[in-house]
Formats: sequence, C-alpha cells, structure tokens
Amino acid sequence: MTASPDARFPLIDDSRQLATMADFIRWAASRMDEHQVFLGHGTTCYWDEAAWLVLDALHLPLALDAAHWQAKLTPSEITRVVELIRRRCLEHIPTAYLLQRAWFMGQPYFVDERVLIPRSPFAELIADRFSAWIPQPDAPLSLLDIGTGSGCLAIALAQHFPQATVIGSDVSFDALQVAAINVEQQQMADQVSLVQSDLLDGLLDETGQPLRFDLILSNPPYVDPDEADDLPAEYHHEPALALFAEHHGLALVERLLDTAAAHLTAQGNLFVEVGNSRRLIDEWWPSHRLNWLSLEFGDAAIFHIGRSELADWRGDSASQPL
Ligand SMILES: C[S@@+](CC[C@H](N)C(=O)[O-])C[C@H]1O[C@@H](n2cnc3c(N)ncnc32)[C@H](O)[C@@H]1O
Repeated sequence: MTASPDARFPLIDDSRQLATMADFIRWAASRMDEHQVFLGHGTTCYWDEAAWLVLDALHLPLALDAAHWQAKLTPSEITRVVELIRRRCLEHIPTAYLLQRAWFMGQPYFVDERVLIPRSPFAELIADRFSAWIPQPDAPLSLLDIGTGSGCLAIALAQHFPQATVIGSDVSFDALQVAAINVEQQQMADQVSLVQSDLLDGLLDETGQPLRFDLILSNPPYVDPDEADDLPAEYHHEPALALFAEHHGLALVERLLDTAAAHLTAQGNLFVEVGNSRRLIDEWWPSHRLNWLSLEFGDAAIFHIGRSELADWRGDSASQPL
C-alpha cells in the first residue's frame, strides 16, 4: 500500500492499525469530525455517516447487526474504504455521490452529480398520501412532479398511489437520464413517464390543450445565487441548476404560481417546497393565499394552494393583477 500523497490526510499509516469494520467506522467518524465535513445529505451525525459509508462501500446492508462489525476487511477493501473516507474528508464530496446511492423513503436511488441528493420533506406528505387533500387515493389520479431530478418524488408518488399515472418533468436532460435509471431499477415504467420541460411549458395534450393534473408538486431550485459562497463545500458538488434561482431564489416559484392553474383539474392542488425562501414570500406578498404546511420533521417549508385560489395567489389582485 502506498502512502497518501496528501499531507493533510496521512491516513494510510494510521489505517494500518485498523482491521475490523468497527475500527474503520470509528476511525471514519473521527476523521469526519476532524475535517468538519458537512452533514445533511442523508445523515445527521458523524457516526451514522461513517457507518453508511463503510457498510455500503463493503456492499453490506445498513441495518447489519453490530455483532458482525468485528469482521475484518481484506487489503483491497481497506484501500477502497480509505480512499472513500479521504475523498469525503478532503474533497467534501457527499457520501451519496461517492457511493452513487442515496436513500429516500426506505428505497435506494442511483445518484451522481447530475442530480440533487434526495432529502425533500415531501416524503412526509407522500407517506400520508396527501390525506387532507386527496379523499380517494386509490382513484386513477393524474400526478405531476416538476423538477424531478433523480425521480425520487415521482417514483415515491407512484408507489403510494398505485392507480395513478405520474409524470416527472425536468428541464435538465442530464437529470432525466438519472431519473430514467431509477424508474427502470424500481420497475415503475408502467406508471411513471419522464418529460423534458421548462416548468409547465409544453405540457400539452395531443390537441394542444394544457395537460391537467389532480396534484402538482415541485421541489424547484429556490436558493438565492448570492448565498452560494456561504454554502458548505458539499453543496457545490450538486448541480447549480438544482439549487439556485434568480430573483433571490423565487423566480421559478413565482412562475409556477402564475401558470399552474391552467394545468390543474377543478379540485386540483399545487404543493411547492421553498425552504428558507418562505420568509421572503411572506415579506413580498404579505396578503398571499398560500397555506404553509406543518410538518412533523423540520420547519414548514412547503406550501399548498388549491386551483381556485391560484387566480389571485398574491391576495392583492387590485395592485398586482396576474
Ligand atoms: C431541488 S432539485 C429537486 C430534485 C428532486 N425533485 C428532489 O426533490 O430531490 C430541482 C430540480 O429542478 C430542475 N429544474 C431547474 N430549473 C427547472 C425548470 N425551469 N423547469 C423544470 N425543472 C427545472 C433541476 O434540474 C433539478 O433537477
């Protein structure tokens, strides 16, 4: 084994003292803490992040009983695991990209740097099958996920609404290629179709009329580009197109609100994740008719609005007509 060329991480000598999975998980957690890697792309503590990285790299289930953690690694496994830990710590590449696998709602997704790493709070609403808004979840509904990225939300929707047809759309052809891998791996092609589209533009039926949906959801880019420099290094491995939007992050959210009504059925509903941009929305449009949802995990970062309220979503039609 050759010594690491990077003086910031003289780990090969160190790692000679390590033998078992438990050794490497402990050591990875310590190095992650030492190098202050940013968490938030799948785990919330260094121990979990280290266990995820080491176990997945060894092709072992994450729920592996800790009794097996005393098993020793082979020399080639050590080389692989040490290299992944080195890249996690020095290059700040999120673990999901290093392993090309992320977990969302208990399912594995192929991911690489063409797509955002799945972590949307929409998981909670999908698990609940949007029960406050969809009285008949087993009806043949028509659902749309705008900005599908890895396809995680479109696929999870299809799995929770087995009679529904789901479109996952994205402006990024690269992202759609990743989504296609996941649709195929999860055998959801009968229910999920993927479409390249700039928000709702071009989502028309064969007669040229807008396609209509019972539910549209979107986790669009909503970060202010001026905040880019303040983000942890890990975010800079994610596609800028997935994170940033003009107009202080709200350009796409505003366009969605202005155009969604034509694409909803009479009882249809729009749900949009906006993260920290909630504060700006409340500030810019104080009379808005958006309904912030209370989520069990984390701050409410998703709003809901029904089709009938969309005609005057700013709640101020006299001064800002659509
Ligand atoms: C925050 S990511 C969400 C990905 C995925 N839905 C998730 O929750 O993990 C935003 C996605 O919107 C896509 N996007 C950006 N601009 C878009 C546009 N104008 N129209 C459609 N999709 C867009 C990006 O390519 C990216 O995949």
